[in-house]
Amino acid sequence: MKKRFYIKTYGCQMNFYDSTKIQDLLKPLGYKLSKEPEYCDVAILNTCHIREKASEKMYSDIGRLSKYKKNKKLAGEDMIIAICGCVAQAEGNEIIKRNENVDIVLGPHNYHKLPSILSTRLTRPVIKNEFNGMKKFNSFPKPSFSGVTAFVSIQEGCDKFCTFCVVPYTRGAEYSRNVLDIATEVKKLVSMGVREITLLGQNVNAYNGKFDFQNSERTYSLAKLCSFLSEIKGLDRIRYITSHPADMTDELILEHKSNTKLMPYLHLPIQSGSNKILKEMNRRYTKEIYLKIVQKLRSRTPNIALTSDFIVGFPGESKSDFDDTMDIVKTVKFAGSYSFKYSPRPGTTAFLKKFDLDDKIINERLNILQKELNFQQKQFNEKCIGLNMEVLVEKYGKKKNQYVGRSEYLQPVHIISDDNLIGKIVKVKIKSLTSFSLHGTLS
Ligand code: 5AD
Ligand code: SF4
Repeated sequence: MKKRFYIKTYGCQMNFYDSTKIQDLLKPLGYKLSKEPEYCDVAILNTCHIREKASEKMYSDIGRLSKYKKNKKLAGEDMIIAICGCVAQAEGNEIIKRNENVDIVLGPHNYHKLPSILSTRLTRPVIKNEFNGMKKFNSFPKPSFSGVTAFVSIQEGCDKFCTFCVVPYTRGAEYSRNVLDIATEVKKLVSMGVREITLLGQNVNAYNGKFDFQNSERTYSLAKLCSFLSEIKGLDRIRYITSHPADMTDELILEHKSNTKLMPYLHLPIQSGSNKILKEMNRRYTKEIYLKIVQKLRSRTPNIALTSDFIVGFPGESKSDFDDTMDIVKTVKFAGSYSFKYSPRPGTTAFLKKFDLDDKIINERLNILQKELNFQQKQFNEKCIGLNMEVLVEKYGKKKNQYVGRSEYLQPVHIISDDNLIGKIVKVKIKSLTSFSLHGTLS
């Protein structure tokens, strides 16, 4: 009988990408993906450390898996529990100290070792969390993923050291994959039916990858990479995430204008609208610089949709700092955004700052911000009613003959059609809006 593995992914798109790679690594060993953790042979948690809540969740999930493991033991069977991802990197041995049922702990640079670890008899827990220059990329088998859209990791780690952020510690120093390796992965995905790729990196627009060809070695920026990939026949859409404002070069801004495959959508986290807080966060730009980037982007690509991340309640955030954030939100007008309460993370510089803002005040500020961001998202979506939009159809909807796709601006679009639309880019006349998705008919 086939062995079964279960995998749960927390956090960012990079983790979801890593989980597809873990699946690709396990399938050749005869493992079948299982949705139920209760009866699996290997249970994997691919974890996130970005905010406290995410790691707490992991510990309660380990507790649940431990019960299943004990039940299996009673039946004379075993279940291996493997913790991968950023908590594995940050907490290592601590995880096993807190729960002795965990067998394997692998940081984000080490999950490619899972097949060899699983093929040996485990007599004691295995922990691997060294940084190794991203050797994992050379160990990936050909992607077995099938779908219309796919993530492709092009850059990992971060050298920015924003004072609130654990990423430079959990994912290590910035590393860019080779251009030709990326192109090979994208071509393979396209041959399997993928029409849209999202290039992933913690600081993706700092991408600076080698292009080795016939003994001449050059480096490519993200703009150049997008231009190069857009020559791949059958690939229709390119996106990238997540960008840092300090790396938003004029070259990349112009690429949005000249490259028709590069979608008019950009996630560009600002975090705060207060120059004082931005400095405390070590973000390396001011609100004026951010606004200048927005103006350049919009003057060249007027329809570009902008989204952002915000942190509310960073240590020392005064009422007037928060007002500055609200001002910038109202000036830029975002098409959608994520906003979070500041979460002190051990090991970061901000963790050492005095953090005595009343939780009630932070919640109030978060509510005010989220209300405005939701309002702006609704306004952006309402402006789409009556437009003919290009939609890449990804999957079936819940209703009969219903299909769901994404607009160029990444909005979900629901369409009713008698024909199977999956994998097609269709023109859709937008008729209505429900919460955050659009509804339309083929035009
Ligand atoms: N607390 C709250 N939010 C955080 N983020 C990163 N670190 C923290 C933290 N310590 C948010 C930032 C980032 C997004 C991925 O998560 O807004 O852009
Ligand atoms: Fe974290 Fe800042 Fe790097 Fe983004 S740019 S991953 S927020 S340190």
